[in-house]
Amino acid sequence: MDKLLDGKAVVVTGAGRGLGEAFAMHAAQAGASVVVNDVDADLADRTAANITEHGGRAVASGHDVADHAQARAVIETCVSEFGTIDGLVNNAGLNYEALPWQEDPVRVRKLVETNVLGVIYPGMAAAEAMVERGGGGSIVNISSGASLGQRKLGTYAASKGAVASLTYSWALDMEEVGIRVNAVCPLAHTRMVWKSERSLRNCPPDRTPARVAPLVLFLLGDGSAGITGQLIRCNGPQLHIVGQPYFKAPILERQVWDSESVQRAFDEVFGAQLEPYGMEKRVPPRLRKWTHGEFTPPPLRSA
Ligand SMILES: NC(=O)c1ccc[n+]([C@@H]2O[C@H](COP(=O)([O-])OP(=O)(O)OC[C@H]3O[C@@H](n4cnc5c(N)ncnc54)[C@H](O)[C@@H]3O)[C@@H](O)[C@H]2O)c1
Repeated sequence: MDKLLDGKAVVVTGAGRGLGEAFAMHAAQAGASVVVNDVDADLADRTAANITEHGGRAVASGHDVADHAQARAVIETCVSEFGTIDGLVNNAGLNYEALPWQEDPVRVRKLVETNVLGVIYPGMAAAEAMVERGGGGSIVNISSGASLGQRKLGTYAASKGAVASLTYSWALDMEEVGIRVNAVCPLAHTRMVWKSERSLRNCPPDRTPARVAPLVLFLLGDGSAGITGQLIRCNGPQLHIVGQPYFKAPILERQVWDSESVQRAFDEVFGAQLEPYGMEKRVPPRLRKWTHGEFTPPPLRSA
């Protein structure tokens, strides 16, 4: 039987360890030729050697995907080594925990450059190469459930929300050239989880990167033809689509919104329409006073 990715050439960024390593190993086992990228070049070499020792095809790249020229070089490596590029897994990423008033601007910039530019730059170069050869291909961006909003993860969550928005937008742009763009929200035991006590608590030890790999392979392969613009979460046992943001009814209309009409819209209509927010679905205080019995009614006036 043909393997799932036979004859395909794919790039996996951040593939020296963790989820990326599993995606690269599984893609190679499924028949793909793989560019194993990681800014930690020794780790990229190790993963690529592991693949070739087991009879697969792989080449290592130690490029930094947050740098435009280097991100292009990763994609060029795929085309020069394997003659084409069929798939890109934008997996490289960083995270840390901090409260907003404790953020360090240098660390913020580094995270945004890696998690946002480090997805856009390789994606641009891959799309260009795919269009040049006549179209077709699959881009899988690694987002996160944190994009829904999580405590102490504001910058990380924002970067992963950007990845989700990029996925929806690029899926629209690229459908006509046959390139599918989807995103995966994984959960797995990796260095990223080991660094955070809270993440460790929420990630049982059996959640291995290998359990997320079949989803990524499916999205890279032809079996997912017709599937694009989707955000899909796999945390080991659970697999589901993540709903997309939408314009919520009722949509109020008037020629001009002034301060008084905005106040009235919230007092009379939106007060009950407010959305629970963040991954924990926290009910905003104005609604909570109704839903959680926190509302103290005014004293009854005696007749
Ligand atoms: N582990 C989880 O539960 C989890 C949950 C949600 C999302 N994610 C996402 O999955 C992806 C992989 O995470 P992981 O848990 O395997 O983390 P990890 O830290 O184990 O591995 C990330 C790899 O990316 C590499 N990298 C970082 N910056 C790079 C750059 N500029 N260029 C090239 N390589 C770079 C690192 O050297 C590292 O080897 C990340 O995007 C992460 O945000 C992970």
